[in-house]
Amino acid sequence: MALFPTYLRSDLHLVRGEGSWLWDDQGKRYLDFTSGLGVCNLGHTHPEVKSAVQKQLNHLWHVSNLFHIPQQEEVSALLAKETELKYAFFCNSGAESVEAAIKLARRYGSESKGLSQPEVVTFHSSFHGRTLATLTATGQEKVKQGFAPLPEGFRCLPYNDVEALESGLTEHTAAVLLEIIQGEGGICPAGSDFLKRLERLCRQRNILLMVDEVQTGIGRTGDLFAFQHAGIQPDVVTVAKGLGNGFPVGAMLGRSGLEKHFGPGSHASTFGGNPLAMAAAKAVLQEMTETDILIRAKQTAQYLQNQLEQRLSLHASVVDIRGQGLMWGVELNQPVAPLIRILQEKGLLAVMAGPKVLRLLPPLVTEVAEVEQAVSIIDESLHLLEEVVEDGGVFNL
Ligand SMILES: Cc1ncc(COP(=O)(O)O)c(C=O)c1O
Repeated sequence: MALFPTYLRSDLHLVRGEGSWLWDDQGKRYLDFTSGLGVCNLGHTHPEVKSAVQKQLNHLWHVSNLFHIPQQEEVSALLAKETELKYAFFCNSGAESVEAAIKLARRYGSESKGLSQPEVVTFHSSFHGRTLATLTATGQEKVKQGFAPLPEGFRCLPYNDVEALESGLTEHTAAVLLEIIQGEGGICPAGSDFLKRLERLCRQRNILLMVDEVQTGIGRTGDLFAFQHAGIQPDVVTVAKGLGNGFPVGAMLGRSGLEKHFGPGSHASTFGGNPLAMAAAKAVLQEMTETDILIRAKQTAQYLQNQLEQRLSLHASVVDIRGQGLMWGVELNQPVAPLIRILQEKGLLAVMAGPKVLRLLPPLVTEVAEVEQAVSIIDESLHLLEEVVEDGGVFNL
């Protein structure tokens, strides 16, 4: 084995994908309720994205950011139209987009607020990435273990706790960074009172409100971005995953006025926003904003929610069902790993969000009949799991 064993991988060898379906090397097909962890929101090998990247492959793959890349301005304009955030910095991943936001927050803190030790406030159970700064920002101890010394300048507050906000935002706070629905942390939505209060406090105290939309963005929760249905206006948004539908691309978006803190030499990425990545991102954004995909996905999402609530809530092992759009968590009273193995055996792929939460992230193009099929598989699998647990057995697939 020549790979660092950083992942606990399934034994599947997936070789082909189309829409909501994946095929393994034995020809067996699987309904994909992971979307490659919230990436292939338009479905696998989406024709428009594929043809945009193919066209770009014939012209130019890469030039450095020392030259103009006009496609970056086009993608930035598409994003700005939706978010009211005029400026974009392009990178290659979610962690890099958050890293850029943290750096911008520090520049803003020192240059606009005169802070010598600017702090970024984040929340318990959050997830922001695996680089040193982003794992420090993350509100979960398990991702930090063994990586000390960690960078300074972060403060972690309880999520959805309005009182803790009042005292937790101090004169050192440059920015607050949060997910509108915590993904890796267990599909936990922020309450609307909490978000409104947070927005007000940030405005009053000149603190940047930075929303991490790496997982929730690009249609995952029903709107293009989750902050839109939350009814708040962030100063900074981080985005990646779904932006390239499988082509690695990320972006940090910021409001007017912040550009002065990110002048020449302040930040850079060799590959960030290269013409291939921009071709993918532009095709994704056009598909999301110029077709009825979000309207159809909202209808599918309503059906998924009804099915989950009607068919799964009666199970003794299910303690909670929560989510929005096509981002759902089913929390069990026991470890979820055995259930995921049974689902895989029955042809449905899903992932965990913490040890007890089944995470469902189907592509936005998933059909109602496919939702019905997926929920039936989960329903049957839960019965199977519950029977085995009732018998005192251990499920061993
Ligand atoms: C909310 C959030 N932020 C950041 C990241 C890190 O993204 P990446 O794995 O692309 O670095 C993730 C990844 O799951 C995420 O869910």
